Amino acid sequence: MCGIIGYTGARATLPLLLEGLARLEYRGYDSAGVALLPGRGGDGILATRQVMMAPATIVVRKAAGRLDRLQQLLRKHPPEQDLNGFTGSGVIFTTGIGHTRWATHGPPTDSNAHPHLDCRRRVAVVHNGIIENTLSLREELLSRGHRFTSETDTEVIAHLLEEALATGQGMYCAWLQVVARLKGAFALAALTADAPGSIWLARFSSPLVVGRGADGWLVASDIPALLPYTREVYVLQDREAAELLPDQARFFSFNGESLTKVPQTVAWELEQAEKGGFPDFMLKEIHEEPAVVRRLLTRYYPATGDGPDLGLPWGDGWWAQRRKLWIVASGTAAHAGLMAKYWLERVAGLPVEFDVASEFRTREPLLSQRDLALVISQSGETADTLAGLRLCRARGVPTLGIVNVPTSSIARESAAVLLTEAGPEIAVASTKAYVAQLVVLALLALRVAQARARHAAGVAAEAGGTPVVLPEDSGTWRQQLERGLTVLPTAIEELLGRQVVIDPRIVEKLASSEHVFYIGRGLDYAAAVEAALKLKEITYIHAEAYAAGELKHGPLALIGPGTPVVGILTQDELISRTLANLHEVKARHGWVVGVGPQHAVASDEAAFLDAYIQIPPLPGPARPVLAAPALQLLAYMVARARGTDVDRPRNLAKSVTVE
Ligand code: F6R
Repeated sequence: MCGIIGYTGARATLPLLLEGLARLEYRGYDSAGVALLPGRGGDGILATRQVMMAPATIVVRKAAGRLDRLQQLLRKHPPEQDLNGFTGSGVIFTTGIGHTRWATHGPPTDSNAHPHLDCRRRVAVVHNGIIENTLSLREELLSRGHRFTSETDTEVIAHLLEEALATGQGMYCAWLQVVARLKGAFALAALTADAPGSIWLARFSSPLVVGRGADGWLVASDIPALLPYTREVYVLQDREAAELLPDQARFFSFNGESLTKVPQTVAWELEQAEKGGFPDFMLKEIHEEPAVVRRLLTRYYPATGDGPDLGLPWGDGWWAQRRKLWIVASGTAAHAGLMAKYWLERVAGLPVEFDVASEFRTREPLLSQRDLALVISQSGETADTLAGLRLCRARGVPTLGIVNVPTSSIARESAAVLLTEAGPEIAVASTKAYVAQLVVLALLALRVAQARARHAAGVAAEAGGTPVVLPEDSGTWRQQLERGLTVLPTAIEELLGRQVVIDPRIVEKLASSEHVFYIGRGLDYAAAVEAALKLKEITYIHAEAYAAGELKHGPLALIGPGTPVVGILTQDELISRTLANLHEVKARHGWVVGVGPQHAVASDEAAFLDAYIQIPPLPGPARPVLAAPALQLLAYMVARARGTDVDRPRNLAKSVTVE
């Protein structure tokens, strides 16, 4: 949701800003813009406050819609036009900030696009997040004669800066004075014509990373935008600010204390953030799943025969004393958590309470310090999930973050972290990160089961303690899940390597339907919920998931002739029951599809299915992980058939950093 990019250095900044904005496209946006300041570059002489060859005029271009609209505008009105006829040699724009906006205050129009300027056009600001006290600030500024040109919350920041600078103080003091007045969430970048060459940054609750390039300094709201230029990143934390100059960066807190920051090295490769011959990121990311699972097994599952080694700080006794596990996450990450609930309860005998983060943070959960909160997030920045994590920490509940972005807030603020190692996920619809979350959660369930079983055996031997009671079949589940995980990469490869993974009739049928239902029981219900989300978000077809047994309690009324219902059939002990529910659909002339291993449809009992998506053989508890790539591909192919923008679905953003 919204993207910030900025550069100051010896290079022409505009191409760099446009490339950065294109790399941030996956965050979702509905308008874009840039603000540029001229300097002297090209010959290696940096643009500085002293060496100014052109009038310090801030040039702004912004346009509603996709980036190509901004590019058209820049071709029609090149920034040089605004330099009052100045065409001196060596003058290029060497300092700039850019932004892709996702509308919150005011519709996506040219004037609401960022950057926003003050009345004198001496200050330009871009902003991710939401300023909550914008109304009172705006009224205050209006009463003092400021003129607003947009409906955004961001514009107040430019006018506040204008006032602070008018008192004669420098930008450093003005910047601190202004950020102290803001309430809400913000990542900010600003520049001023009074001090060309500098970019000013501030962060509270919205991510911002700084990188040192070969010939200047960069800032972005996400690491992939920096990958072409640097792997060394400085992550701004809450209440931290910075000034970027062409040849240095200085960091300071909102209180004005100077900070020494150490760069972190990002292990991600540039190729991971490119399409690599695939038509879109989503398909590429689905095809990366076998490699992602292999990477996770190498990291967390050594071949010592001792089970997973997650490097967590808690011993057997600690796990045995846990009263309850809370799972807190949003969207797809929450669906991974729902799947984990079944594993953790069945394999480790630990009660799990599952909540989507937006509900968890507002419902006064009955937390205890003997619980553990599992906080799952690809981006590590989702506002509701982060708030859930902070709530747990405030109540003294130990926290474990399962996160893909190692530099993120959730990774930083969780007491312990397991990284999902999926590399940058660019497509808005989460695929490889979901599979990675499932694998990490399954390994965690195995580790917890092992700890609790060992502790139970020890306590029984000593007698007198409180023994942990594991479900009767937990041993069988544990073995099967463990075996399933080790062959999972090959099984996904086999699935994706098939000539026809998804029967084209299914694609055709779903693509021409208005409503699609997914059903399943147990682990298959968790898989169904995620499959329905994937279909709805990229195809815009209304897709709903139900626990198969719930159908006859209402949803069956929605089934008419030809309504497609996809039944997930990976759990041997539940197949007959779910098939019976699909039969009820068929009796109402619905169109029924099964998803599962070959043996699930081997008997006559399944002969009534209209179509089937077969997954390769794998031990039962791990099968729903293998159903994921099949169901992701199904959604992908239906989206392609309907001609939607697979990587950038309408109205959605990759990283939801506002409540
Ligand atoms: C759907 C999807 C979203 C995210 C959700 C949480 O494909 O990607 O539902 O899963 O916004 O995001 P993270 O995992 O970054 O916290």
